Amino acid sequence: MSNDYKPLQGMSDIFGNDVHIFREIENIAHRVFDNYGYSEVRTPILEKSDVFLHTLGGTSDIVQKEMYNFQDRGGRSIVLRPEGTAGVVRFLASRGEAGLNDKVYYLGPMFRCERPQAGRKRQFHQIGVEQTCNPNPLIDAEVIALQCELLHQWGIENIRIKINSLGSLDDQVNIRFGLLESLEPYQNNFTKEEIERIHKNVLRFLDSKDEKYRKIINKLPSIQSFMSDESKEYLEKVINILKSLDIEVECNQNLVRGLDYYNHTVWEITHDSLGSQNALAGGGRYTIDIGKRKIDGVGFAMGVERILSAKQNAKYDINDEVKQGYWIISLGSTAILENMKLARMLRNRGAKVGMDLEEKSMKSQLRRADRFNALKVIIRGDNELNNDIVIIKDLDNHSQEELTLKNFIESI
Ligand code: HAM
Repeated sequence: MSNDYKPLQGMSDIFGNDVHIFREIENIAHRVFDNYGYSEVRTPILEKSDVFLHTLGGTSDIVQKEMYNFQDRGGRSIVLRPEGTAGVVRFLASRGEAGLNDKVYYLGPMFRCERPQAGRKRQFHQIGVEQTCNPNPLIDAEVIALQCELLHQWGIENIRIKINSLGSLDDQVNIRFGLLESLEPYQNNFTKEEIERIHKNVLRFLDSKDEKYRKIINKLPSIQSFMSDESKEYLEKVINILKSLDIEVECNQNLVRGLDYYNHTVWEITHDSLGSQNALAGGGRYTIDIGKRKIDGVGFAMGVERILSAKQNAKYDINDEVKQGYWIISLGSTAILENMKLARMLRNRGAKVGMDLEEKSMKSQLRRADRFNALKVIIRGDNELNNDIVIIKDLDNHSQEELTLKNFIESI
């Protein structure tokens, strides 16, 4: 395709069957969230930079190198949202007491200026939930169960759920201190810049994919060894509740997530069919400082494009779009205006109806009916108009019948 017609790198036009699957994914999500008592919120795509700078963490990849931020015409610092949680929590904080114990869901585009590759886009879509509440293992487990229910309804099986705890906010001070102390003997393996980076956020170091560092990471004590018994019990409870709901999870002590607002339970859901970018979803419990408030909550977000790939890889038959509706074929120019009126009447009755508004040959109109995926065509020219009749042709079994206009309209 010529560059003139391409969208920006890492962004896509979504069209055709992909739109149908997007819609199906969204419709199922609305239904499942309704059943679980979540209300939908649509926050703005643009937010003040502060909303993300203070919540995601200054050392996170998103803040350091992936945010689309710019100054607007008034010189204000603005960000295209890279994720949903911070904006949604800002909204919940704005609701005062009502926002402190609330359950909301969202769906929409997010933007991260990452190096594009299969499964990693600069504009992608997330479906997520946030529930504001004090730490409670039952709620964490229910949020994970909701996520599993959604994946099941979308027809995605064979998922893996990795879970871990990052400890309470108090534990996190001990964890950082303990890990840095354990890394002291390995100082010579790092450059000055790496040591600085590790000191800024030692937890992120545990997530490093570099083989050289993995060898060191594997020798470090687990973060749970620096955690209080209460926090360890909290994670145990979440895992046991999930077990009693028949949800299997793998405890992975190196799972740390890429955003700084998390504490206690964190998790990631992966699907093997997705290749290197195999995370379908991520979530966890968090404490977010916003304005003068500290909000505790738990939530998750799923990448819609990745759900779409997992569905396609699961051989979901996306080409089997059902034929439906009518294409009206006009013979002669007088028929076009009369057919326009008929189309309007049928659409008002809930039918899917299309027609050409230019004079075209029968063959060309039939081709358009095919592209419209119409189940039937309605043929009307001067003869049919004069006799108040319509010819209805079924494009599947090729049968044809003649009906009075009145009887036909009443049958819709
Ligand atoms: P996250 O892990 O950064 O978490 O993103 C969640 C999901 O969004 C990922 O698992 C992936 O499916 C999708 N995703 C992320 N980046 C991309 C990309 N560049 N291209 C395509 N898909 C992508 C969050 O965003 C947190 N806000 C989740 C959360 C909600 N935690 C608590 N509440």
